[in-house]
Amino acid sequence: MEIKGLRKITPYVAGAQPQVANMIKLNTNENAYGPNPAVVAALAAFDATNLRRYSSLDQAELRQALAEQHGLEADQFVIGNGSDDVLSMAFLSFFQTEQPILFPDLTYGFYKVWANLYQVPFKEIPLAEDFSWRVADYQRECGGVILTNPNAPTGCFQSLGDIEEVLKANPQVVVIVDEAYVNFGGQTAIPLLDKYPNLFITRTFSKDASLAGLRVGYGIGSKELIGVIQAVRNAINPYNVDAISEALALAAVKDWAYYEETCRKIMATRDWFAEELTRLGFDVLPSATNFLLVRPSRVSAGELFKHLEEEQIYVRYFPNQERIKDRLRISIGTQEEMEQVLARIKEGCL
Ligand SMILES: Cc1ncc(COP(=O)(O)O)c(C=O)c1O
Repeated sequence: MEIKGLRKITPYVAGAQPQVANMIKLNTNENAYGPNPAVVAALAAFDATNLRRYSSLDQAELRQALAEQHGLEADQFVIGNGSDDVLSMAFLSFFQTEQPILFPDLTYGFYKVWANLYQVPFKEIPLAEDFSWRVADYQRECGGVILTNPNAPTGCFQSLGDIEEVLKANPQVVVIVDEAYVNFGGQTAIPLLDKYPNLFITRTFSKDASLAGLRVGYGIGSKELIGVIQAVRNAINPYNVDAISEALALAAVKDWAYYEETCRKIMATRDWFAEELTRLGFDVLPSATNFLLVRPSRVSAGELFKHLEEEQIYVRYFPNQERIKDRLRISIGTQEEMEQVLARIKEGCL
């Protein structure tokens, strides 16, 4: 007999997590370098007997550390189980609307999934030919806006001036700026928070802080927006941040200089790799992230994907996305890894 009342939804398809020895894994934009040694020490020092208690309800210490890092107040932050958790709560909290929310046709694929899950009407707006978004497309009546800056999967960064124009045009709805990759060459919208109480910024520890497996992210906004999302958080899962995650994220924030150095290394490798691929005739989009979206020369994206996979090099291929099915998204590994990848690409393309 058919069971009634079951939810039907097309889920987000996350990048694969192959378990292969000696692979070079460049398919989910993880960090090439390990987390801060202070994080490793904090994990070793963590007293497991404390796990009998629930984790903190407000992550006061972590929020305070983030406030000091960004020159803001602790009550301008909400913490989540990865920024996916924060974004999901933001959709539930800020997009109670009959008007469609707006986001580009090429952006983080999860936005559409949350919009469908929470029954938020939405309109995907095609990016321009050069993969930038046009300010004018977001200057219309709508239920809210969400933009990734720098964008994924393109890697392209758009100026703070453009973000401000969108905020200015939409004072009555929330504009979310997803800054998952901002520390690889972008520019944060944090300075706009003072002027725009409708701005909500999301950040993750998964990329720059090399803690994708820990699952911590956060949102930054006006006290009004944070009050609303904290209430929604408490309506779903008040203990969404476990005690280990809170302790380790705190250690990461308190010793941030390490990450400035690793981000610099990744950016240098990215620029070198982009130049080498361009020399091979690839079309390489300008990137302010830890990945490149590239169109191979001489072979198709599918052929190169297969060739690399046979060499245990995993990159992301989007055969079902019309506009980028001729491209591969390649995360930036260590310099040594990328030299190996380049050698394998040369074999596959020449
Ligand atoms: C643009 C963007 N936002 C958010 C996320 C989610 O990150 P996490 O849930 O690991 O914090 C990702 C992950 O790849 C991303 O690319």
